[in-house]
Amino acid sequence: MHLIVETLFTVILVLYYLIESIVWTFLPNSWRYKDVQNQTVLITGAGSGLGRLLAFRFAKLGCATVLWDIDSKGNAKTAAEIKQRYNSECLTYTVDLSSKESIYETANKVKEDIGEINILINNAGIVTGKKFMECQDALIEKTFQVNTSAHFWTTKAFLPRMLKLNHGHIVNIASAAGLTGVTGLADYCASKFAVVGFTESLSMELTSLEKTGVKTTVVCPYYIDTGMFKGVKTKFPEILPIVTPEHAVDRMMDGILSNKSEVWIPRSLYVLLSVKGLLPTKCQALLSQFFGISNCMDEFVGRE
Ligand SMILES: NC(=O)c1ccc[n+]([C@@H]2O[C@H](COP(=O)([O-])OP(=O)(O)OC[C@H]3O[C@@H](n4cnc5c(N)ncnc54)[C@H](O)[C@@H]3O)[C@@H](O)[C@H]2O)c1
Repeated sequence: MHLIVETLFTVILVLYYLIESIVWTFLPNSWRYKDVQNQTVLITGAGSGLGRLLAFRFAKLGCATVLWDIDSKGNAKTAAEIKQRYNSECLTYTVDLSSKESIYETANKVKEDIGEINILINNAGIVTGKKFMECQDALIEKTFQVNTSAHFWTTKAFLPRMLKLNHGHIVNIASAAGLTGVTGLADYCASKFAVVGFTESLSMELTSLEKTGVKTTVVCPYYIDTGMFKGVKTKFPEILPIVTPEHAVDRMMDGILSNKSEVWIPRSLYVLLSVKGLLPTKCQALLSQFFGISNCMDEFVGRE
């Protein structure tokens, strides 16, 4: 009897959540944006690309920003622009995210300097862009340290306070390469699949701890024109465009402010990757070839 009641209850809730999600599809997300004014946002990899643009957006919304990067010059440039444009509080820290010690040490400094972090954005990332057997071991290790392990250490450093307050947000910038394999990106894909798994598991843990005030978002973009994937080609730009950094950051902000658990960019990924899951492996390989995923990295140059 107990199981029958539980099953009925689950079915009703599933239907309710389905209807809720369908209704939201037709309503502007901005209706459910949260107010982040006066919150403190920490962004890793804020010295260039998406990290810099995210820092500008949060500063514009009235947040204090804490910028982490190994590139102190790039980070200082982001901070100078924030102070000039928005006159808001902004602190910079030079930190090597491939070092756990450097992360914990810097996290302690941040806590002393500014106190709690309300929104943590794990954005910094690197790519080797070589075929698997050509990737040096040291580069594979570095990719995992920066793209994956760093997220564990930053989260361990700042989550306890969020749990105490039952308020906060952990945002992890993964990749579409964290949802499907790509030729020439074995180490990068594996590091980003791990980020997707980490965020999903963390979200489940928070739910089971009834810490529903602490949100998680994992962002999975296809290629973005920041320079990180310089040289990459897309076969069907109408379906899978290389998006502008501004568009990517618009979608990221929209997802973060409306507490979405996942943001895939561009939206065509929702269709393509859902279909992929239903197909036999041979069809998946064929479609990967057809959509150019198997050779999009052929002319990869990346950052110098
Ligand atoms: N650009 C794309 O096409 C694309 C696509 C999907 C996902 N992403 C992801 O988005 C995130 C941001 O990418 P981006 O395009 O802005 O890249 P980017 O190269 O412009 O910026 C990355 C930043 O991370 C910093 N960084 C690198 N190693 C570091 C380390 N050891 N310690 C501290 N900081 C370090 C760099 O100095 C740089 O400022 C990355 O996680 C990337 O994997 C990018």
